[in-house]
Amino acid sequence: GIGHTRWATHGEPNDVNSHPHLSEDGTIAVVHNGIIENYSEIKEFLIAQGITFRSETDTEVVAQLLQYTMRSHSDLMSAVFAVLPHLKGAYALGIVKHDEPGRIIAARKDAPLLIGHGDGESFIASDVTALLSHTRTVTYMDDGEVAVLTGEGVSFFDLTGAPIQKKQHTVDWDLSAAEKGGYPHFMLKEIMEQPEAVRKTISPRLQDNRISFEEFGEHPEILEGVKHIYIVACGSSYHVGLIAKRTLEHLLHIPTEACVASEFRYSDPLIDKSTLVIVISQSGETLDSMAALREAKAQGARIVSIVNVIGSSIARESDVVLYTRAGPEIAVATTKAYSTQIILLTLFALYWADTAGTVSREEYEALIAALNALPGQMSAVLADTALCRKAADRFFNRPNAFFIGRNIDYALGMEASLKLKEISYIQSECYAAGELKHGTISLIEPGTLVIALATYAPLTEKTFSNMVEVRSRGAEVLALTTESGRTLMEKSVEELLLVPETHPLLQPNLSILPMQLFAYYVAEHRGCDIDKPRNLAKSVTVE
Ligand code: M6R
Repeated sequence: GIGHTRWATHGEPNDVNSHPHLSEDGTIAVVHNGIIENYSEIKEFLIAQGITFRSETDTEVVAQLLQYTMRSHSDLMSAVFAVLPHLKGAYALGIVKHDEPGRIIAARKDAPLLIGHGDGESFIASDVTALLSHTRTVTYMDDGEVAVLTGEGVSFFDLTGAPIQKKQHTVDWDLSAAEKGGYPHFMLKEIMEQPEAVRKTISPRLQDNRISFEEFGEHPEILEGVKHIYIVACGSSYHVGLIAKRTLEHLLHIPTEACVASEFRYSDPLIDKSTLVIVISQSGETLDSMAALREAKAQGARIVSIVNVIGSSIARESDVVLYTRAGPEIAVATTKAYSTQIILLTLFALYWADTAGTVSREEYEALIAALNALPGQMSAVLADTALCRKAADRFFNRPNAFFIGRNIDYALGMEASLKLKEISYIQSECYAAGELKHGTISLIEPGTLVIALATYAPLTEKTFSNMVEVRSRGAEVLALTTESGRTLMEKSVEELLLVPETHPLLQPNLSILPMQLFAYYVAEHRGCDIDKPRNLAKSVTVE
């Protein structure tokens, strides 16, 4: 059997446009992740041959073209090899034919696809978590490869039809991590798993208070003579990049830019052999990030990636991959992957700065001490959710929200704002607190919700002034600060959330927690589909 949860690219999400798509005579069925870019050209050709289409999708052309090609081929496999070279764009395909039962043909180009090897059974999937309840033995398919699954096992071929050998890998993710375990939503479970995920990300890298990255033992040249760093990512991973930019510049003094991947590839980035590109991706399959990686690599950049899903495409195409240890993340809204990405990038920057001699002994030791203490501090924040719930009870029905913050709190606000809007559908924007007065403040009116982030001690007072400005125009303020900012804030806000203090570079790891909980409880109040917000997918494999 084959099936696919469709993310609408062509035509509205309805039954007719849902997968599998059939050929006109109903003999061939296809599921497809990706986009067939030349589908209208193929469709026109097939219509001219008298073939009738049912759906508005690009995928249907694959089924119809296969049926048309079967006129001159005796079996499905040879028809598949004849059709694939005509498909432009991205695809992970699963194909079956009515009179060839017990056989699934799968093909990959620029879209994730892996094979699961079970006991007398085989699987295809886009994401390894889908396989965990069946098997942990997998084969990652590469572009231009075809797999044929039968009762006897799986055979692999290149596009010429020549057999190829592929390695099997064992996935060590725990199945229970892909189950709710008594929580109402994966998101809440994953928020609560963060201290452990961070601990697991730190512990293999930190022994006797020294950081080691054996990956660079094999490739020391990757970090030598780097003059410019680009961090490339999407969504929350990009927000991690905004924090990591500060960390890398502070510890290494190398100019660093954080770029949205979909913009980076079309912006003629200045890349040469002294450029390091860091790609951040939970899934390791985000097409925009992947395309940026390939573009940078083609221009001679060195590529280090920060990835959660082992064996994913971005991991495999990087010069060096550093894995976060968040475990499977199921909720569309990322939480534990975000936290582990910040940690891994901090460890990486500190390791690099230490080997390059750009960090003082005092700061190295202060950061190590902060890293060691962090999981415990995170657990303490998560142990008491009452104030986050109270703030959500008060503000859940607001139509919009503004987040403000400065420096690292601005980067944090970008993520906090995304969390709120993506799961609660409240329109929300984040502004650098000092930028409000340049236009946005005209939107503040009585009752407007402003969430002021003031956890970065050197700028707490400045953010406080901006908070007073919006409050005097009628805004209601939910503020987040640390113990040292409490006295300044507590009498001037509607609701106050506190987090413990840590090293400023790690502060976002604590400060994001109440913001994730606030977004979660607001969405719960509003009756939203928290784990699967509308129009979103966990890994975005289209451009
Ligand atoms: O898998 P990636 O980290 O590459 O995904 C990037 C974004 O699609 C992702 O962070 C997205 O913004 C999340 N839904 C945010 O919660």
